[in-house]
Amino acid sequence: MIELVPASLVHAQLLSGIHSICFTEVWSADAMAGLLDMPGTEGVIAVDGQSLTPAVEPPGPAGMVLWRVAGDEAEILTIAVLPPWRRHGLGQRLLDHALAESRAQGAAMMFLEVAADNNAAQALYLSRGFVQVGLRKGYYAGKDALVMRAGI
Ligand SMILES: CC(C)(COP(=O)(O)OP(=O)(O)OC[C@H]1O[C@@H](n2cnc3c(N)ncnc32)[C@H](O)[C@@H]1OP(=O)(O)O)[C@@H](O)C(=O)NCCC(=O)NCCS
Repeated sequence: MIELVPASLVHAQLLSGIHSICFTEVWSADAMAGLLDMPGTEGVIAVDGQSLTPAVEPPGPAGMVLWRVAGDEAEILTIAVLPPWRRHGLGQRLLDHALAESRAQGAAMMFLEVAADNNAAQALYLSRGFVQVGLRKGYYAGKDALVMRAGI
C-alpha cells in the first residue's frame, strides 16, 4: 500500500536521494531545501509501507513530486518514481495529486519541462492532457526540452 506523505524541509536529503537515482543531473539536499522553502512550493513523497520481506527490502520511498503554484499557474518542478515501482500507475497518481492540489489552490493551468528524448515521461504527460507549447534548445546539459501545458 503506497501512501503519499507531504514533503517538508526534513525530507530534503531523502528527496535528493530519490532524484539522484532517477536523473543524471542531481539536485543536492540544499537545492531541495531551497525549493521547499520557496512560497507556493509543495510536494509529496510516495512511501511503500508494505513489504513482504521487510528484513531484505524494508518499507521505503517509491517516488516523489514537487510542484509550485503562483496565481493561476502551476508548475511541476520534478517528478520521479524509483525503478522497481515504475509502470504500476504511481507516476500518474503523483501527477494527478499535484494537479488536484494545484487546482484546489486556484491554478487553472500546469506547466512542465521534459527532455525531448524522455519518451516515458512524455507518454505520461500526454495521457494527462498535456500538450507541447514550446521548445527550449539545450535546456538540459545540451539536450532540448519540451515545454508542456495542461488546463486543470
Ligand atoms: C516518468 C516516470 C515518472 C513515470 O512513472 P511510472 O510510475 O512508471 O508511470 P505510470 O506507471 O503511472 O505510467 C503512466 C503512463 O505513462 C506512460 N509510460 C510510463 N512509463 C513509460 C515507458 N517506460 N514507456 C512508454 N510509456 C510509459 C504510459 O502511457 C503509462 O500508462 P500505461 O502503463 O497504462 O501504458 C518514471 O519513468 C520516472 O521516474 N522516470 C525517471 C525520472 C523522469 O524522467 N521524470 C520526469 C522528468 S520530466
